Amino acid sequence: MSNEAGIRSQQRTGQQSGASDYHIETRAVHGYNHIDLVHTYGSISTPIFQTATFQHIGVKHSTGYDYTRVSNPTRDELESLVSSLEGAGTTLACATGMAAVDVILSLFDPGSHIIATDDLYGGSVRLFDTAERTRGLSFTYTDTSDLSQVEPLIRPETRALYIETPSNPTMKVTDLRAMKALCEQHHLLLIVDNTFLSPYYQRPIALGADLVIHSGTKYLEGHNDTLAGFVCTAPDREDLAEKLLLIYKTVGCNLAPFDSFMLIRGIKTLTVRMDRIQDNAMKIAAFLKTQPKVLDVLYVGLPEHPGYQVSLSQTTGFGGMISFHVDTKETAYHLLENVKLIKFAESLGGVETLITHPRLQTHADLPAETAQKLGITDNFLRLSVGIENADDLIEDLRQALA
Ligand SMILES: Cc1ncc(COP(=O)(O)O)c(C=O)c1O
Repeated sequence: MSNEAGIRSQQRTGQQSGASDYHIETRAVHGYNHIDLVHTYGSISTPIFQTATFQHIGVKHSTGYDYTRVSNPTRDELESLVSSLEGAGTTLACATGMAAVDVILSLFDPGSHIIATDDLYGGSVRLFDTAERTRGLSFTYTDTSDLSQVEPLIRPETRALYIETPSNPTMKVTDLRAMKALCEQHHLLLIVDNTFLSPYYQRPIALGADLVIHSGTKYLEGHNDTLAGFVCTAPDREDLAEKLLLIYKTVGCNLAPFDSFMLIRGIKTLTVRMDRIQDNAMKIAAFLKTQPKVLDVLYVGLPEHPGYQVSLSQTTGFGGMISFHVDTKETAYHLLENVKLIKFAESLGGVETLITHPRLQTHADLPAETAQKLGITDNFLRLSVGIENADDLIEDLRQALA
C-alpha cells in the first residue's frame, strides 16, 4: 500500500471487503485494511481530501485519482469500510439515502415492475410515484412480512423485490431468506433497505440480497448532523456494480469528502452506540407497555411482536426503533409538545432520542386510506431511542404522558 498519496487508489468495483477475519467491532474502528493502511504523516484519522481535482504526474500517469465526482480517497476509504461491514463487493457512498435509492432505480428499463414492502419510508414511496410517472416503472406494494401475499403479485415484467425490514414505521419483519428463494425462482433482484438495523445487527447480503441500501444519515453516521446514503452490491453482483457506478459517477450524486470523513468517524462508534441504544429500547418498550394511555407497543425485541422469531433467525439484534399507538390524537399531540429531553423531530438513528409523528412528518404524503390501513394514524408515534440514560428517558415519557 503506497504511503505517497496517503491512500492508494483502489479499483472501483470489487473493492476489498478484506479483514474479514476481524470482528465487526474491530473493523468499524480500523476500517477494511487497518494493518496495511498508513495515512500521510501517520495520521490516525482519515485525511479529508478536500479537492475537486487531482494533478497528473505525467502523461497517462495518474495517481489513481482524477476528479472527485468519479472518486476521492476519503470517500474510497469510507466505501471500503462499509463494504467490509456489509460483506459487499462494492459500495457507493451517496449524498443522501434517497440518492442511493434513486441510483438503484437506474437499473430498471421502462416497463419494469417492482414489488415493494407496503410500509416503506415515505420518501421512497414519493420517489417511486415519480418514477411511475417519469420513467415508466410500476410498483405494487404489499405486506412482505406475509410471504403468501408476495408470490401472486409477480408478473412477467417483475424485476425486483424491494424490502424494508423492519419496516418504517410499523416495524414489520420480512423473512429475507424466504424472499431470496422467491427471487431465485422468478429471477428477481432482492433489494433491502437496511437502515433500521445497520450492518451491526443485520447483513442482508449474507441472507441473499443482491443490493443493500442505507440512509447513512441514521445509525451509520449516528449523530444527527450529516446526510449520507449507501448502495452496496453483493460480491457476486459486479455486473450490477458496474452499471450503478456508471450512473453514479456520471450524475455525481456522491458524498463530499468532508461528509465522508464524518461517516468514517461516526461508524467507529456504531457498535457501542447500537448496543446502548438497544438496551435503552428494551427498557423503554417495557415501560410503555405499562402505560394506560398506550394501546400497543411495536418493538421487534418484544417476544409478542409478530416478527420476533424471524428476527431471531436473521438478525443479531433488534435495534432502537419503537412505534406505539396512544389512546387519542390529543394524547399524541400532548406528548409531542411536552417531552423535554426527547426531541420532537424527524429522522432516527442518532445519539439523541427523537420522537416523530409519522402521519404529520415522514409519511405525510401517504394517501389517507393507505395510512389508515397501515395503522399510521393521528394517534401513532415513532421513537428513535438514543444513548442517554434509560431512566431519564423513561421519566421524560412518563411526565409527557401524564
Ligand atoms: C428507511 C429509510 N430509508 C431511506 C431514507 C432516506 O434517507 P435520507 O433521509 O438520508 O435521504 C430514510 C430517511 O428517513 C429512511 O428512514
